[in-house]
Amino acid sequence: MDKLIIKGRNKLYGTVEISGAKNAALPAMAAAILTSGDVHLNGVPYLADVTTMVKLLEKMGVKTAGYTDGTGVGVPGKSVTINTSGINTHEAPYDLVKTMRASVLVLGPLVARYGSARVSLPGGCAIGSRPIDLHIKGLAALGANVSIEHGYVNVKAKKLKGAKIVFDTTTVTGTENIMMAATLARGTTVIENAAKEPEITSLAEQLISMGADIHGAGTDIIEIQGVDRLHGCSMDIIPDRIEAGTYIIAAAAAGGEVEVSNCNPGHLDALLSKMKEAGIHVTGTGNSIVVKREKDAWLKSVNIKTSPYPNFPTDLQAQFMTLMTQGDDTGVITETIFENRFMHVAELRRMGADIKVENNVAIVRGRTRLMGAQIMATDLRASASLVIAGLMADKVTEVSRIYHLDRGYEVMEKKLSKIGAKIERVKV
Ligand code: EPZ
Repeated sequence: MDKLIIKGRNKLYGTVEISGAKNAALPAMAAAILTSGDVHLNGVPYLADVTTMVKLLEKMGVKTAGYTDGTGVGVPGKSVTINTSGINTHEAPYDLVKTMRASVLVLGPLVARYGSARVSLPGGCAIGSRPIDLHIKGLAALGANVSIEHGYVNVKAKKLKGAKIVFDTTTVTGTENIMMAATLARGTTVIENAAKEPEITSLAEQLISMGADIHGAGTDIIEIQGVDRLHGCSMDIIPDRIEAGTYIIAAAAAGGEVEVSNCNPGHLDALLSKMKEAGIHVTGTGNSIVVKREKDAWLKSVNIKTSPYPNFPTDLQAQFMTLMTQGDDTGVITETIFENRFMHVAELRRMGADIKVENNVAIVRGRTRLMGAQIMATDLRASASLVIAGLMADKVTEVSRIYHLDRGYEVMEKKLSKIGAKIERVKV
């Protein structure tokens, strides 16, 4: 298991290039199941989760090319071509689903295209129980027969029929699963209380380019007219707004002047407004955002409350909490999406942070000089918050279990070293 060694208190200067979005690439790959044509995806990030999705598709007999040709880790703009003509099973096994919950994204496409799917229930994950009951209710509403046996969900349907589906809770992958399934259903499907993330909009654009009839993606009501079949496509993966947000926060935390390039500032309004409220100079133009913080003065403490897009993303909560240790007062962080997304707090406390947690609220005292320490990553975004803490802390910080980081950040240590961070990966 690798770990990162970080020598803190070095300001960052230069440009960091953002990779393709993990949470857009995963549904884009699953969507290939809906067609017998080639699906060509450009700008796919080289990440553990994307490799898991490639393995899952290949285990089902789907052919992939381009991603695993060994052109090197972290080669920006990697592409993958997917073709399902060799598919020989409609099953997503436990050993893969347990490592990546987003494997459930094959469920909707399999039922829509082949009339059957057997997908392992994802089980819990570090940040919460994360059930898929809304995915299952949506498929049942489309006329599928659903049974749960031995930890697997079995779904069968001769032909899905369009329906009106109202999600009790806004669910990103739930919206994606049902939208994909509805593209081949008979008749009209309306999804109400749909997720509005940019990854939903980019998936809808991909499906439309494959011949689907979809209106309203990006709003909370999406209407899909079923069609007989979909054809292949070639699609660019959108930039990763969470990776971009992570580097924006890192640059503000470490100080200096950093340009975050190849991103979409329009996807980060909630974060950028909070950064400005905290007194950080951020300017977004075209496809880049410049972050400037030269003085060591304390930031303004601000409060955040996570909620679905376009509000403050839960995937940036841990990173922003680390930043609030540098506030001038007290920042209140309220997490409304997942029930256990404060696991970074215990590790930050070991670095001297003063954070009190009451249920889903964390109270972060500012004016803290973080101290380097040996700390442990617990989940993807928590690990990013610990790296940011290491950049700010005095002396040396060692972050272990960084396989969590590799799930969602393409060679973070290389990107940070390029802008002046003293960080190296060591094998243990
Ligand atoms: C997606 O997860 C993202 N993953 C997550 O990113 C992100 O944190 C999350 O959306 C929220 O924005 C991908 O897109 C691959 P949800 P998802 O369904 O779809 C509850 C990262 O760091 N819920 O929107 O699994 C659920 O428990 C990852 O990149 C049900 O109750 O999240 C949660 O409380 C972490 N039943 C809330 O809804 C369901 O059937 C939102 O979850 C589905 C969800």
